[in-house]
Amino acid sequence: MWKSAHPYISNLIAYEPGKPIEELAREMGLAPENILKLASNENPLGPSPKALEAMRMALERAHFYPDGGGYFLREAIAEKHGLQRENVILGNGSNEIIELIGHTFLKPGDEVITAEYAFAVYTLIAQLFGAKTVKAPDIHYSHNLKATLEAITARTQEIFIANPNNPTGTMVNQEQIDAFMEEVPEHVLVIFDEAYYEFPDQPVDVVRYVRENKNVVVMRTFSKAQGLANLRIGYGLAPTPLAETLQKTRQPFNANGIAQVGALAALQDTDHIHTTREITRTGRMFLQEQFAELGWEFVPSHANFVLTRTGNGDQTFRALLQGGIIVRSMRSYGLPEWIRVSVGTPAQNERLITTLKKLYR
Ligand SMILES: Cc1ncc(COP(=O)(O)O)c(C=O)c1O
Repeated sequence: MWKSAHPYISNLIAYEPGKPIEELAREMGLAPENILKLASNENPLGPSPKALEAMRMALERAHFYPDGGGYFLREAIAEKHGLQRENVILGNGSNEIIELIGHTFLKPGDEVITAEYAFAVYTLIAQLFGAKTVKAPDIHYSHNLKATLEAITARTQEIFIANPNNPTGTMVNQEQIDAFMEEVPEHVLVIFDEAYYEFPDQPVDVVRYVRENKNVVVMRTFSKAQGLANLRIGYGLAPTPLAETLQKTRQPFNANGIAQVGALAALQDTDHIHTTREITRTGRMFLQEQFAELGWEFVPSHANFVLTRTGNGDQTFRALLQGGIIVRSMRSYGLPEWIRVSVGTPAQNERLITTLKKLYR
C-alpha cells in the first residue's frame, strides 16, 4: 500500500536535526545534565525569564484552544517593525513559514534558488512540492548574489537568502542586497531568512521591502536569540495581499497559545536579548581564536555558531560524543571535512575546546 506514496515523498531524505540530549543520554548511559549540546544554535542562557513567567501563567489556560489569529503577538510584531498586523503570519517555527510559502507557490517543475551551502529545509520543502532546487555557487562560503541572479529562469519561483546564513555564518551587506533587489524580476519571490538577525554587529534592513510592497517574505524566529526553540514559534512578514494568501494555507491553530504568550514576553525582554548577544559575540571570538590555534580553517561568523574544518567532520562528531558533547557534522551539507559548533556559555566553550585539544594534540 505504501508503494502508492507520492514519489516526491518516497524519494525524500528526511531532515536530520542535531542529536537530542536525551538520545545520547540513553545511548551512553549518561545523565542528561552532563551532556553539552552545541548542535542546533540554541540559546545557552535558556529562555527569556520574562517569557517563562508569562508561560507559567498561560499554562492554566491550556484547556482552551489558542487565539488562532494570534492577535496580540501579531500586533506587537507589527509595531516593532512599523507594519500592520495584516503583514504578519505566525508559524510553528519559521520552518513552517517555509512550508506555507511552498503550499502557496510551488508546483512540479518550478525552481527554487538557494546558496550552495544553505539551510537544508529549503530543499526538502521544494522537493515535497516537486520543485527543483538550484544552488548558486558561493564565494568564500557566502551567498553570491550575482550568481543567484544568473541562476534565475522563467521557472524560478522562490529565492532563499539566509542572512546571516546557516551553516556558514556569513552575511551579505545592505549594498549587495539593495543592488540585488534592483535586478530580481517581479515574478520571483525573495525570502529573506533572518533566523539569526539578532547576532550580527551590523544587521541589514530588508523589512523595508515589505513596507514597499515588494514580492518578499522576511522570516524571523523566537528559537535562537529568544531561546524558545522548544515552543516552535516564528513568523513571516509580507505585503498584506501576500500575507493574507499565506494565511489560507496554515492550520487553524498552528501557533500554540503558550508559545504566543512566551514569544510576546520575549519580544519585549531586551535585557535577555542584549546579554545573549554579548555572550555570543565573546564566545564566537573565543571559539574562532581557538580553532585557529588548533590549525583549523574556520569561516568568520556573524551568527551564534562557527563552521570549522577539522579534516573529518563525522570523526570529530563521534569523538566528541564520547566526551558527552554534541556538535554537528556537516557531511549532509556537502562539507564532510567540517563541523558546525553553536556558541555556548564561556564554561561550555571551554569544555568543548579542552576536549578538542585532548583529541587533536
Ligand atoms: C536559517 C534557518 N532558518 C530557519 C530555521 C528554523 O528555525 P525554527 O523553525 O526553529 O524557527 C533555522 C533553524 O535552525 C535556520 O537555521
